[in-house]
Amino acid sequence: MFELKDRVAIVTGSGSKRGIGRTIALTLAQQGAAIVVADLNKEGIEDTVAAIKEAGGTALGVELNVTSKESNEAMVEKVLEVFGRIDILVNNAGISQKATVEEMTLEDVTRIFSVNMFGLFLCTQSVLKTMKEQKFGRIINLSSVSAKRGGGVFGGAHYSASKAAVLGFSKNLAREVAQDGITVNSVAPGLINTDIWKSLPKEQADAVISGIPMGRPGETEEIATTIAFLASKEASYITGEEIDINGGSHMD
Ligand SMILES: NC(=O)c1ccc[n+]([C@@H]2O[C@H](COP(=O)([O-])OP(=O)(O)OC[C@H]3O[C@@H](n4cnc5c(N)ncnc54)[C@H](O)[C@@H]3O)[C@@H](O)[C@H]2O)c1
Repeated sequence: MFELKDRVAIVTGSGSKRGIGRTIALTLAQQGAAIVVADLNKEGIEDTVAAIKEAGGTALGVELNVTSKESNEAMVEKVLEVFGRIDILVNNAGISQKATVEEMTLEDVTRIFSVNMFGLFLCTQSVLKTMKEQKFGRIINLSSVSAKRGGGVFGGAHYSASKAAVLGFSKNLAREVAQDGITVNSVAPGLINTDIWKSLPKEQADAVISGIPMGRPGETEEIATTIAFLASKEASYITGEEIDINGGSHMD
């Protein structure tokens, strides 16, 4: 697949044991990148770092709260101290909440936005100087099918809105840094086979599956391989793009 030797990649939210971020981290490591496993979850960080090292890869665990400017800046300082460069940032950390607009509070909306959008902004801002100096960078942001069509299984309108904001932010930034050797793209996964999906009652799961032309949820590997491509030098002329990975459940 796509060669990422000598690249340094930060993957936020990669400490979730059965999450998408862990598979992204393992996949980029397999392609030769040194991985920064950045998450709130200390135990999860250790677990992903161990899995990468066991597979022969290079990994550094860093505790990170994406909603804090200081925490993002401290992470960047640590990464530069250890690896000396930052080539790839995958903004994967995200939270959701199932609630109707009538049920949700302003605090709920603020909490969802503070991770999914403001955290993504702060983390991105903290790596730009380094990427500009290197004249190379790959920023890949996790949006969601619910940004485009609404009606998420696990999230409400605040989640959809935060993930739609990610798409606009990515396109604007893509224009800003296009001449600095930095590309900025998004992926919009549909329903993915993670723990939260497995917890859904069968009746509800069947109803969701009936809306997916491929008749199954996606696998985390199916997100990670697209991200490995976007992170590679082969994707050098792709920027401001959003890639749907959803088994056909939404087609632009
Ligand atoms: N699972 C799906 O079906 C699906 C579909 C579309 C989009 N997505 C998006 O993909 C991404 C990963 O989803 P997942 O299902 O693997 O989620 P997950 O809940 O398994 O993992 C998210 C990780 O983010 C971390 N995190 C949360 N808040 C953080 C913060 N403030 N700072 C640092 N880390 C923080 C958590 O500790 C966790 O390890 C999310 O952005 C999600 O919105 C998921």
